[in-house]
Amino acid sequence: MEHIIKVDCLKHIYPDKTEVRACGLAFTVNKGERVIILGPNGAGKTTLLNHIIGLLKPVDGQVEVLGMSPYENFNKLRKHMGVVFQNVDEQIIGPKVYDDIAFTARSEGLKKDVVDKLALDIARKLCIEHLLDKIPHYLSGGQKKKVALAGALIMKPDFLILDEPFDSLDAKSKKEIIQILNTVNQDYNTTLIITTHDVNVVPSIADTIYVINSGEIVIKGDAAHVFSQLEVLKDASIDKPILSELFFQLQQSGIEVDIPFSIEEAKDKIIDMINEGQRV
Ligand SMILES: Nc1ncnc2c1ncn2[C@@H]1O[C@H](COP(=O)(O)OP(=O)(O)O)[C@@H](O)[C@H]1O
Ligand SMILES: [Mg+2]
Repeated sequence: MEHIIKVDCLKHIYPDKTEVRACGLAFTVNKGERVIILGPNGAGKTTLLNHIIGLLKPVDGQVEVLGMSPYENFNKLRKHMGVVFQNVDEQIIGPKVYDDIAFTARSEGLKKDVVDKLALDIARKLCIEHLLDKIPHYLSGGQKKKVALAGALIMKPDFLILDEPFDSLDAKSKKEIIQILNTVNQDYNTTLIITTHDVNVVPSIADTIYVINSGEIVIKGDAAHVFSQLEVLKDASIDKPILSELFFQLQQSGIEVDIPFSIEEAKDKIIDMINEGQRV
């Protein structure tokens, strides 16, 4: 499969001389893949994303998006990307939610009725059509995230880049955003690249997880692979998801059970265990 994004041993130097790297394993992304970049604060996640978006210029190493350097092809690649930054307040600029969602479509010079339809379609998909006339400033954190997401998605980008989208969301909004992202990925084959330090969301949204710690990409793999590398996770100050921890401890107590990655899977395993127990 052809990689649409490739980062290899990236090095960045901020104006104050802080040096940040994304070295170690190569970071590669395939079309339609759901990729999570997991790491503690200060690991270099946002720096890596900003290089992929083309906002920063690497000092060393390879950064390629659709075979191009994103920094040198910013305008060309911009059309393929939807981006939601960590602080959506800085991103939401329209006087009304509608204006904000419609921003990219308008700047493409599309006709008003086309823009209206695109904005309404994406607002419906994200279940926020009732917010279109509201002033973004007064929305809740979860609603603002959805508005920023709708704005990023209006032109159906090939890939969607989200920096800590689950940060400071309550459990309900988190679940809704995960559901929306998975639906968008399925319906449009949109590639997702998401940073987070929240391990518990990872199994429900990731095909591939990269763990980054102090500028080194230390693990790449699916949830089962990544969450079995206990020592590496500990070194990166990453807890295991609570379900993995629970079932890992059951294994330690001598119970033969595989580690589940969703509540549904865990429920089925527990029911199986109870039923087996009753037969004994
Ligand atoms: N604009 C900046 N100027 C100087 N240092 C920065 C800047 N942005 C980030 N850094 C530093 O770069 C390192 C990586 O930061 P960042 O990429 O934001 O990590 P993460 O997103 O994983 O928390 C940190 O040590 C951080 O302090
Ligand atoms: Mg960050």
